[in-house]
Amino acid sequence: MSNCLVCDHPIDSFLSFGNMPIANHLPMPKHFRNEFRAELAVGFCPGCYMVQLTNLVEQEHLYNDEYAFFSGSSKGMSKHFQEFAEFIMQHYLPTDDSFVVEVGSNDGILLQHMAKRNIKHLGIEPSANVANIATKRGVESLVEFFNVTTAEKVKQTHGQADAILGANVICHIPDIHSVAKSVKALLKPNGVFVFEAPYIANTIRKTAFDQIYDEHAFFFGVHSVVNCFSRHGLELVDVMERNVHGGSMRYVLAHKGAHEVTSKVKQLLVLEDHLGLLKIETYQDFAKSAEKSRDQLKQLITGLREQGKKIVGYAATAKSATVINYCGLTPEHIKYISDTTPAKQGRYSPGAHIPIKPYEIFKQDKPDYAILFAWNHADEIMAKEKNFIKRGGKWIVFVPEVAIVENVKQ
Ligand code: TYD
Ligand code: ZN
Repeated sequence: MSNCLVCDHPIDSFLSFGNMPIANHLPMPKHFRNEFRAELAVGFCPGCYMVQLTNLVEQEHLYNDEYAFFSGSSKGMSKHFQEFAEFIMQHYLPTDDSFVVEVGSNDGILLQHMAKRNIKHLGIEPSANVANIATKRGVESLVEFFNVTTAEKVKQTHGQADAILGANVICHIPDIHSVAKSVKALLKPNGVFVFEAPYIANTIRKTAFDQIYDEHAFFFGVHSVVNCFSRHGLELVDVMERNVHGGSMRYVLAHKGAHEVTSKVKQLLVLEDHLGLLKIETYQDFAKSAEKSRDQLKQLITGLREQGKKIVGYAATAKSATVINYCGLTPEHIKYISDTTPAKQGRYSPGAHIPIKPYEIFKQDKPDYAILFAWNHADEIMAKEKNFIKRGGKWIVFVPEVAIVENVKQ
């Protein structure tokens, strides 16, 4: 049994996927024999309500030269980052000399909007390859991990920040206390810490078990965010739901007492209680639904293959590694996975080794079915794949339920 990363209380494990490969490492045939695997399991802490991985893979296994995640992989996300930037600039960067810091700034997709308006900014990004792209975009970047030492250094060189931001990155950092301490040190007395992450209530409601993979150390909710950051004198003052990554939450935190707490925070605390997010039984039910979903998906695909149908995958997402390996799908079931990312094409899916092919192949090919692995981009994909349906193709979906459909709503 493991203990909670936030409050050290013993965790109740509720779902294990068994040994899983690294979700964002797409191997070549020479890597197949020695592919790294580790147990993927998730648990609930009855002490602080944080849902979390119970067995963490060392960071060096996750984030290295093989890392295959690129922020700018869809039009929808570019639009989202623009809205996020506008929101911050309008509400939290009040003066000409305001200063904004982003943790895990990747290729500068968010901070580029501040850079364009000559707003003082700094991205803190440990991966040099993506930070270099940000620099080329005019985004000032520091190649470091975000920790107390870095925060103190930035404070000395740039001063304290009016806003510290994080988009789908805070849930990746197991040492959450170090994040909180660093924010405390770097944030101006009236500043805000704003981060986004997939929202646990949506993951549970949609049986989106594919959100669970090695990088997602935490599955935040309003209760668990409050419990985690209040220990450090940071108060949750506002929350906003966002329709990205399958249903995300934007959390706004500040030094305790510095900002008024909106009624939305209270509303969601009550809602989470009603939804049962504070008790283990809800997560045990989720695990049963995930198992049912796994069995139904495997059965559906096996049946279609017995009828000789051609099935492909749509988008080699990190999430798909969980679905494919949990369901035991192989290249016998899924002929290939189409993906628009050049760096993913020609590689193979983790564990199952299904070939990843350029999108152009999918467009020319006539598969009978495509499994929608990028269901979080359904609106964008439905708009551009009308032809696939016209020529008789159908989508296989598994979130929120396993089904064959012609149209998917996000
Ligand atoms: P993403 O949404 O980032 O999911 P995850 O966090 O699970 O990796 O994955 C987007 C992937 O989907 C990326 O590899 C690009 C691919 N993709 C397509 O191939 N076609 C599309 O139309 C879209 C929107 C994405
Ligand atoms: Zn806890």
